[in-house]
Amino acid sequence: MTVFFGGDYNPEQWPPAVWREDVALMRSAGVNLVTVGVFSWSRLQPAAGTYEFGWLDDVLDLLHDNGIGVCLATPTASPPPWFTRAHPDAMPVTADGVRLTHGSRDTYCVNAPAYRAASQRIAGALGERYGRHPALRLWHVHNEYGTTCYCDHCAAAFRRWLARTYGGTGVLNDAWSTDFWSQRYGRFDEVLPPRATQYLSNPAHVLDYRRFVSDAMLAHYTAQRDVLRASGVPVTTNFVLGGWVPVDHARWAREVDVVAVDDYPSSLDAHLQERAFVADLARGWAGGEPWILMEHAPGAVRGTDGVTRVMPPGQARAAASVYLDGGAGGVLYFQWRAGRGGAEQWHPAMVPQLAELAPIGRSVSTRTPVRVDATRALVYDEPSMWAWQSPHLPTPFIDYTATAQRWHRALGPPVDVVPLAAALDGYHLVVAPLLHLVSAAGHKALRSYAESGGTLVLTFGSGLADEHCRLTPGAFDDLAGIRLVRHRPGELGVWLDEIDPLDATVVLTADDRPVVTEHRYGRGLVRYVAADLPDLARWVRS
Ligand code: GLA
Repeated sequence: MTVFFGGDYNPEQWPPAVWREDVALMRSAGVNLVTVGVFSWSRLQPAAGTYEFGWLDDVLDLLHDNGIGVCLATPTASPPPWFTRAHPDAMPVTADGVRLTHGSRDTYCVNAPAYRAASQRIAGALGERYGRHPALRLWHVHNEYGTTCYCDHCAAAFRRWLARTYGGTGVLNDAWSTDFWSQRYGRFDEVLPPRATQYLSNPAHVLDYRRFVSDAMLAHYTAQRDVLRASGVPVTTNFVLGGWVPVDHARWAREVDVVAVDDYPSSLDAHLQERAFVADLARGWAGGEPWILMEHAPGAVRGTDGVTRVMPPGQARAAASVYLDGGAGGVLYFQWRAGRGGAEQWHPAMVPQLAELAPIGRSVSTRTPVRVDATRALVYDEPSMWAWQSPHLPTPFIDYTATAQRWHRALGPPVDVVPLAAALDGYHLVVAPLLHLVSAAGHKALRSYAESGGTLVLTFGSGLADEHCRLTPGAFDDLAGIRLVRHRPGELGVWLDEIDPLDATVVLTADDRPVVTEHRYGRGLVRYVAADLPDLARWVRS
């Protein structure tokens, strides 16, 4: 398999004369894959019973005639206005009870029956028409799943999910600690989505809603996937990263034929280090198999300050190399050519940057994906990341992802970034920072890893709670050979754990307090880093 190179292509935003120029430029830039159709539902199905595929036939044929493969998207991330007018109940409702209207994108409720049915119809129609098209290399379901809705369809589906998960309200009450603030539920139909309420919400309720939304969107994805798979062409969806995303990617990764991620720098600083983290994370979700960078900034970066800055010379190439060294089987950008109008008309695009990007494309598109062999791993646990977003924690200043990235840098390449459910045996060293939530299965995995000879690095802010946010004080004491006396947030950086080093050896103290300890556990070693230390490289020796 050669590495894919290309980007999102939206020919429906340009007249056909421009398409011909596009394919000529694509050929000279080594483009061998473009993602087509992501937001084209209203062009493909202008009215409920009417399909217009002619333009897409022409686009796919033109691309094929020019040797360019197609990653064909289902357009369900943006239902057309006729659909939303006919089915206002399929529009998402915010936690404040505001029903959104069309006019942007991502306005859908995955639990609305009309939206589910319409999604299946358009996916089925595309599958039937293009499943055997010679240009087709990959199906791209939807785009960046991520809309959280709080409507009545969601409330009903949430209750069904809870009933399946917990069986009875007794178990639910226990899991959610509902005796606090008189929240005991007598029946499942008393439960609501975590809509706007008077004061703090129940963190276990919020966390389960996120899991439920993840599962509901996953069902929307797998329903389309199962229809498209009849073509024999692999199916994926592009993961979007970020704290707001209600998707458990480790779980979703098992349902895609190839893991695909979108990755945008937040600024030009620390750019390449962030890219390496994402590459190692994507490869971890992919279980070491090649993965696809489905979208990336094409030579210019729109920063969080709103300013679009061109990358310094060489940086786009360096970023592509980082992804490829991390096992990428595709380097794609958003977008080939910017729209003439519309909300993202100023978003950077490949065409103006081709002087820099074309030489990259010509070399990338002749390569095969590399295999990465790492003996060290960093655990990145999305449920813990979610839990660190709860309000009213001992400190609001923990940044889970930034901390994981600091450990990643300290570990240096090659390192796998893996979910807690990954097989850990085989690694010499595993670092699991800030592991806020740990289930019984998580505890077991960490213990058996250390027992069988691995070096495990744990930190402050770990083993705080079980998967339902119920506190589990001292959960790692036996593993680390210490006694956790109390947490001291705001000391020695963001947080210090006051510990008694009972059976552990103190290897670093600060202000007369033990801050790093080591403990033999089974045939392995557990190092406990009790504070937010500036120099992490010292603590990643196996
Ligand atoms: C996401 C989307 C694209 C586009 C880019 C802009 O990745 O998938 O449609 O909006 O962001 O950065």
